[in-house]
Amino acid sequence: MGKVLQHPRCLNCHPVEGGPLQGDAMVPHQPPVMRGDAGFGAVGMRCSTCHGNPGESRNPAPGSQDLFRRLTQTWIDAGAHCPA
Ligand code: HEC
Ligand code: HEC
Repeated sequence: MGKVLQHPRCLNCHPVEGGPLQGDAMVPHQPPVMRGDAGFGAVGMRCSTCHGNPGESRNPAPGSQDLFRRLTQTWIDAGAHCPA
């Protein structure tokens, strides 16, 4: 689960702070974009203004959605403990 949740593919759109990041090196998004109040960009600069189709030739997060679902359910069934 951690390998997926911390993969650049996910963190680029789900950054801890500020706006989105870009590429496996996770550099700041070009052109500069802000998170905005609702998390979809500033008014007039929504993510969907420029992004319509998934991009090509990007490295995917490891595993599959089904494997992630099963790992998550197993973790929940075991008490959902978080590392300190
Ligand atoms: C291209 C941008 C983008 C990428 C890449 C992306 N996400 Fe998202 N994700 C979003 C957006 C936008 C939403 C909110 C959708 C909505 O609210 O309608 C979202 C929602 C989510 C949610 C639901 C959050 C909630 O509060 O319900 C989860 C969980 C999530 N993403 C996980 C991931 C994971 C894991 C990856 C990598 C495998 C990933 N995302 C990659 C844009 C992205
Ligand atoms: C003004 C246009 C524009 C807006 C608005 C915009 N983007 Fe982008 N975005 C781009 C361009 C151009 C690229 C680079 C495309 C490429 O490398 O092929 C990019 C790349 C990205 C990437 C990198 C994908 C990778 O290769 O890793 C992510 C993630 C991303 N945008 C997320 C967002 C999110 C989230 C928003 C809204 C908060 C947003 N973008 C708003 C134009 C925009």
